[in-house]
Amino acid sequence: MSGTIVVGSQWGDEGKGKVVDVFSAKADLVVRYQGGANAGHTLQVDGKQTILHLVPSGVLHESTKCVIAAGVVLDVATIAQEIRALKTNGLLQNPTQLLISDSCTLILPYHKRLDAAREKALGNEKIGTTGKGIGPAYEERASRKAVLFGDLFQPDSLREKIEASIKEKNFLLENYYKEEPINVDSVMEELKPLTDELAPYRCKDTSLIVHKALKVKKKVLFEGAQGSLLDLLHGTYPFVTSSSTIAGSALVGTGIGPGGIEKVVAITKAYTTRVGSGPFPTELDDELGAKLRDVGKEYGATTGRERRCGWLDLVALKYAIRVNGITNIALMKLDVLSGFEKIKVCHAYELDGETITEYPVTPGDLARCKPLYKELVGWSEDITGAVDMKDLPIQATDYIQFVGNELATPIDVVSVGPGRKQTLWLKPLFA
Ligand code: GDP
Ligand code: IMO
Ligand code: MG
Repeated sequence: MSGTIVVGSQWGDEGKGKVVDVFSAKADLVVRYQGGANAGHTLQVDGKQTILHLVPSGVLHESTKCVIAAGVVLDVATIAQEIRALKTNGLLQNPTQLLISDSCTLILPYHKRLDAAREKALGNEKIGTTGKGIGPAYEERASRKAVLFGDLFQPDSLREKIEASIKEKNFLLENYYKEEPINVDSVMEELKPLTDELAPYRCKDTSLIVHKALKVKKKVLFEGAQGSLLDLLHGTYPFVTSSSTIAGSALVGTGIGPGGIEKVVAITKAYTTRVGSGPFPTELDDELGAKLRDVGKEYGATTGRERRCGWLDLVALKYAIRVNGITNIALMKLDVLSGFEKIKVCHAYELDGETITEYPVTPGDLARCKPLYKELVGWSEDITGAVDMKDLPIQATDYIQFVGNELATPIDVVSVGPGRKQTLWLKPLFA
């Protein structure tokens, strides 16, 4: 058993990219299995920042293979651009380091156009999507009409498939949304050079590669995108993304069974953020929220949007631990809490006059929940230089202990800054 699934336990942007990069030093394979370029995963090494949307966050380690499995919706223009930038920076010099499944669903310009048109039509009720075409692409997959990455390399049938898809989208765009139609020729023109560029990364069956690696006990990391509360089935529906973001999705999206999975690590911010619309009980609409945003640099890595900020929510986290089967926690951005005199943690909600400690899954209920808080004493010291738990002020270790006890799950990693080295290990990931 050598598989470790890394998932976001909140509404995304917990620091998955940083943790996967740090863990990757010892991993043989890193697999992205769902989502698309809606993800923005930030890695920071020696002060240099790399933001990845589709390429797995193991790519900075030359000997770590990166796999994009069938469950991912692939924007070929974005990934080609990402690959170019990595190569310019001396990375990904060997094309065999990256494998893209032929079975990935393609995101084409019309998916983005439809995404935007739908959001516009929703007005104030909008989801607040990233505009990357995620919803329309997954819909097309479910409708069994998607164009797949492997189709790009079948020039005889590609145009026909794209034409069929565009016909339907154009009908919607023109007649329902009153938008300009998409031109087939321009899509084909755009795809031609990208197909040649991406050919070296093509892999017919990534599921087989991952299966073989697990069988010989190679160390495989599964890199989740988004967060548990954005899960299509188990998140804050309808304010969710269009893929399943919880740990089970790693199996489905890759095409493997559960037998090889040893750990499921929750990436958990020491407070909470959310981008886009939807309920957020512990949101701080005041100067404390603004301070979290300011100190934590809480602006989207994909869209640059301001992230909504609030206190840690244990009710939602316990739910995430349950639906993912979390075994270990990485507690991120603890440094951002330095300088808060008091730190609040939500331990229960009040819903319609009753106190509840189980997260309510019925759509609409969460929006009526009021957070009930426990208050902890903060600390003023800058902890970004800490290299060991002993370097932390007692109030910070109390906070870590309190959260670990409440969640009844071991906190193995504490992160005190965006850099690789700003990582405190309480227990090693791989024995
Ligand atoms: P992801 O989507 O889960 O990979 O997270 P993002 O990259 O979107 O957002 C996390 C942000 O926090 C990035 O800018 C990271 O560089 C940064 N970050 C990660 N860990 C820490 C930490 O411990 N402290 C601070 N201050 N920043 C961190
Ligand atoms: P990472 O992997 C935070 C949010 C959007 C919106 C909702 C639906 O960086 O954590 P979509 O474009 O997926 O249809 O938008 O999901 N969202 C994210 N929020 N981090 C992400 O990814 C997200 N990916 C999507 O803001 O609310
Ligand atoms: Mg992100």
